Amino acid sequence: LRAGPLAGKRVLVTSGPTHEPIDPVRYIANRSSGAQGTALGAALAASGAEVVFVTGPADVAPPAGVQVVRVQTAQQMLEAVQAALPCDAAVFAAAVADWRVASASDRKLKKTRDGMPKLDFAENPDILATVSQMTQGRPALVVGFAAETNDVVENATAKRKRKGCDWIVANDVSPETGIMGGTENAVHLVSDAGVEDWPRMGKDAVAQELAARIAAALE
Ligand code: C5P
Repeated sequence: LRAGPLAGKRVLVTSGPTHEPIDPVRYIANRSSGAQGTALGAALAASGAEVVFVTGPADVAPPAGVQVVRVQTAQQMLEAVQAALPCDAAVFAAAVADWRVASASDRKLKKTRDGMPKLDFAENPDILATVSQMTQGRPALVVGFAAETNDVVENATAKRKRKGCDWIVANDVSPETGIMGGTENAVHLVSDAGVEDWPRMGKDAVAQELAARIAAALE
């Protein structure tokens, strides 16, 4: 058995981007590296939690000491999350694509003289909102992330209400901050108790602080 403040607790973490196929060789993705989610998975495991780590195709390797479930698409991520429940806490750090190509081609799209292909999109399931709004078996603590480029706290506060999660960890991912893909993060923790502005620190330090807060909340 593990030791630590989260011993005996099962925590789900989503991390990384999703890849939404266009055809067998092309996909739509985003710039999430998976660094913050991976740091979180590591910190939660180091605090004694049993961690299920559901990850899209991230740049960084998943942490040691967690149960890794690899997925490509948002729909697969939702299925993996539902299969991992029940759990005590769930942290949604993945950058899930909002849209997928409605009918991905099962053959590689070819250049033709008839012009460019047209892509039709369909909306992906909102995994965080789905879990937050579960009427049975909802994790005791549901934490979402919000990557914003403007009005960070206002948007995060509205997002917490809209999705129904307990906390939102909000960060400014404007390119000039160097946060997306970088090693540091400056976050605001939004809960029903209000907003905390944390100083800029390493993603590992953010993860350790969040793991400590999660442990305190589950006590
Ligand atoms: O709405 P937005 O994408 O900004 O919300 C971000 C939060 O919602 C993150 O915690 C992200 O992991 C989660 N999310 C999700 N499923 C989606 C979209 C976002 O779980 N389809």
